[in-house]
Amino acid sequence: MEDATVEITTRHNPRYVAVQFCYSEKGKKPVLEGGLKDLKERLEEQSFSGKLSETTFLGDRVVVGLGEKEKLLGRNMRTAAVSAVGLVQALKIKEIEIDATSLGQIHIKNLVYALKVKLHKSGDFKSKKGDDEKEKGGLKHVSVLVNEKDVNIANDALMIAESVNYARDIANNPANIATPKFMADKARELAKKHKLGFRLLAKEDMRKMGMNALLAVSSGSAQEPMLPIIEYKAKGAKKTIAVIGKGLTFDSGGISLKPSKGMEEMKFDKSGACAVLGVMKAVAELRPKVNVIGLLPSTENMPGGRAAKPGDIVKAYNGKTIEIDNTDAEGRLVLADVLAYADDKYKPDYIIDMATLTGACVVALGNICSGLLGNDDAFNKLVKNASLDSFDEVWELPLWPEYGELMKGKYADLRNISGTGEAGTITGAMFLSNFVAKAKWVHLDIAGTAYRPRPIPPIEFGASGAGVSICIETIKLLEKD
Ligand code: BES
Ligand code: ZN
Ligand code: ZN
Repeated sequence: MEDATVEITTRHNPRYVAVQFCYSEKGKKPVLEGGLKDLKERLEEQSFSGKLSETTFLGDRVVVGLGEKEKLLGRNMRTAAVSAVGLVQALKIKEIEIDATSLGQIHIKNLVYALKVKLHKSGDFKSKKGDDEKEKGGLKHVSVLVNEKDVNIANDALMIAESVNYARDIANNPANIATPKFMADKARELAKKHKLGFRLLAKEDMRKMGMNALLAVSSGSAQEPMLPIIEYKAKGAKKTIAVIGKGLTFDSGGISLKPSKGMEEMKFDKSGACAVLGVMKAVAELRPKVNVIGLLPSTENMPGGRAAKPGDIVKAYNGKTIEIDNTDAEGRLVLADVLAYADDKYKPDYIIDMATLTGACVVALGNICSGLLGNDDAFNKLVKNASLDSFDEVWELPLWPEYGELMKGKYADLRNISGTGEAGTITGAMFLSNFVAKAKWVHLDIAGTAYRPRPIPPIEFGASGAGVSICIETIKLLEKD
């Protein structure tokens, strides 16, 4: 079954069932706008208050509450959009038109994005298709009615949603399908399709260049590690950003083996790399006046006779020595080499890395927002501003030198775990900071946001594409800066 189509239009089509929004006002009747005004009495009869996500059907149209107008956030709009789709599917309506003509641009963006992501089927490997569709009523088409001035922004949101869906589709593959080679093939295919530059560093290249931390992580696996690199170069660009994603196609923990409960989720440990693919797809379509280099180091972390052992000491690309005290803290080892390599080889002004790096981030922030840490206050701020325009929520944690003390090694320059168990997300980022010499750098810990253990609108389960949209908005801001 195909995804329902989502179309942006400025022309009302009376054939479709109308979906309209309604605000609530504290202690008052709901605030009706436009075409809803004539329904005042019918809404009152139903004691419809207009609170967020409240829905009702009035015979010829669906009404969705948005809560108080001044309090409406982008993410609330996503929730409301998903509730609207829920009622439409329950009613088995096939075609709808959502009236977005009275919404501000940020809400139009979130609405369109939520619809496109919600209506995209991803991560379904069931052999029997169809039952699910019947259950969901077979919604086929969604028209979003906007004013002429908002057409571009709505189409832009549609394009970003497609990039997010693309990243989700890749990330939802299990580790027996999505191997490091699979990731390299996906990167090559994307580069070819959009005429972007492509390079692939294989094991031998890594060895020659001294990427020994990455190689240590991959050493227990039967799969060879891959470092695909996609290069977008713009004429007249004054800035370069490198976007790096952790691509652990499976993280068993290695010799520091993870408990079996929940280990299957570690197929999502490649989500950062998948997000990079999503970013590069959007970049290829947007063609910004900024150079963008996407790097997606891909490997498995497995136990085995050749696997790295706790206590092993390796020398990373930048010459720093690392004591591997826990083989499950592998993401930072992979990123150590690739951050240092990207910084040295491409001399980017900016680097963003996205990584499902620490369970501690899930403890601190849950599944709602990603952790943000960086080495430059102005760039941190820029990325946080980009977040406000994106579909990714972030929260900053402090990257203060004091935390770095915990990562100093006993036998080597650094150790890959702090040993105290405190401030795990910060110490992880502190470790990474040792491998960025020049660039302004932001690290996004997406451990809690990259996949959904339970539904968070607009994603029901599986990979979320976290990180894609914040990177795209960051690149757009850098272009203007
Ligand atoms: N991939 C995990 C982090 C993770 C945990 C992602 C839960 C998504 C959900 C990472 O490689 C890891 O194992 N980190 C360790 C670090 C520790 C040993 C310092 C962790 O968080 O326990
Ligand atoms: Zn791990
Ligand atoms: Zn991991």
